[in-house]
Amino acid sequence: MWHPKSASRHALLPAEWPSRDRAAHARWFSPIRVGRLNLERRTWIPAMVPWRASDDGLVTADVLDWYARFARGRPGALVVEATGIRDVPSGPLLRIGHDRFVPGLRELVDTVRRASDGQTRVFIQLIDFLAIRKRPEPGRYLRQFLQITDRHRERLAPRAATDPEVRDVLCQLSHDELELVLEPRELEAMDFGARERVTDVHLPHVRDLPLTLPGLFADAAARAEAAGFDGAELHCTHAYTLASFLSALNDRADGYGRTLEGRLRVPLAVLEAVRARAGSAFVVGCRSSTEECIAGGTTLDESTQIATRLARAGLDFLSLSRGGKFEDAKQPSIGSAAYPYTGPSGWECMPTTLADAAGPFGRNVAAGARIRRALRAAGCETPVVICGGIATFAQAEGILERGEADVVGSARQSLADPDWFEKVRLGAGDGVRRCAFTNYCEGLDQKHKQVTCKLWDRLELDRPDVKRTRDGRRRLVAPY
Ligand SMILES: Cc1cc2nc3c(=O)[nH]c(=O)nc-3n(C[C@H](O)[C@H](O)[C@H](O)COP(=O)(O)O)c2cc1C
Ligand code: SF4
Repeated sequence: MWHPKSASRHALLPAEWPSRDRAAHARWFSPIRVGRLNLERRTWIPAMVPWRASDDGLVTADVLDWYARFARGRPGALVVEATGIRDVPSGPLLRIGHDRFVPGLRELVDTVRRASDGQTRVFIQLIDFLAIRKRPEPGRYLRQFLQITDRHRERLAPRAATDPEVRDVLCQLSHDELELVLEPRELEAMDFGARERVTDVHLPHVRDLPLTLPGLFADAAARAEAAGFDGAELHCTHAYTLASFLSALNDRADGYGRTLEGRLRVPLAVLEAVRARAGSAFVVGCRSSTEECIAGGTTLDESTQIATRLARAGLDFLSLSRGGKFEDAKQPSIGSAAYPYTGPSGWECMPTTLADAAGPFGRNVAAGARIRRALRAAGCETPVVICGGIATFAQAEGILERGEADVVGSARQSLADPDWFEKVRLGAGDGVRRCAFTNYCEGLDQKHKQVTCKLWDRLELDRPDVKRTRDGRRRLVAPY
């Protein structure tokens, strides 16, 4: 797992938990208006993919158990994992690209309502992503996948003429020599696995994304509303399609890149289409980045402008993350695909206690606060949700008191102890199982293994009612 060069191990922040009476007057446990809905509290669980859907993208009993467990802790809002808007195979990730997904998702919504006694609002994160291939064995790439062109011939001249001859010669070359013959994208495809970008306008399906995405997202949102969700969160952060349109690296020359206006066009069109299709009470929010945290990536200045444009276009909430990009991801092993949380920007997204001097706690707060100030200065009242290394009452309450955000979310701390919001609210904070921020859970996520937490997945494994992971070695749901 990547960590900053000059890293040292940081201790968890001291936690002084409030009494029940103090918590009753806390801002964090006070209601807030989001769109046309009320959140009972300003506590929030951001999206986390647990790899529990069926291989066809359907809701399973394990998905229901996972969300029921979080809902028992009664967060103000629970965002269901990144859910694919297309009807294409994508492994055990939830999907919403066809009406057949609606009944399962309806069951999920009902489960959350029941488990939280109707106190938790349930949103679904809608995601689109482009194709990415596994890293091939180099010989196989050169013999099978690489398209031989005259450029290769020219660079190898006079050593090869026919395609098989060119391939034979390429297979004899060292990596350094291949760097002189292959194009950067070909080298990337060999060393990391081929990855589509929104700038690949030579591919018709990528060129046409500005035309296809608004409808796909609007259809997905309509299904989410039909399933009973309170709202949808457009995935405009990390490494995925909408974020890639917004990115400073988007240099599409067809009006959908280069300038900030151009980069915003697709996300704005998506938002408009979703808004037009969804009922007025249906909340439409977005998760975007404060900073991309990669060379040449979107800076806070630009993110502030992006946030203001999205807010003016009618966003009901803005949830802020950071980093999580492919551009600086670690080279995957042969047979695996690159993962956008394995490099420095991935670390910024989910920082661990092996951190630089600034530490892992609340790293996104100052940037989020600046975006919120800009929104208010522009006359937008859009609630801002912040998260990232926030795991104590004092942090959350301080953020709200200082007006740095309107809602405070915790992903990993909620995974470590799904009851933690309720424990704190009821004055039982001493019983919180505190996240260690070492990213065991994220390591599982990277391998597309069922996500669990190291603090609880071996507890009471022998109890007959405890459901286990496929390999039988871990429990699937946090103990009570
Ligand atoms: C296992 C796991 C899965 C995640 N899946 C998603 C996801 O589907 N969508 C998303 O926007 N963020 C995802 N994240 C990022 C979290 O929502 C959150 O931004 C990040 O963990 C930092 O917050 P924290 O410090 O409170 O954990 C995931 C994080 C983890 C640990
Ligand atoms: S495995 Fe558990 S303790 Fe470790 S980072 Fe994840 S949620 Fe926190």
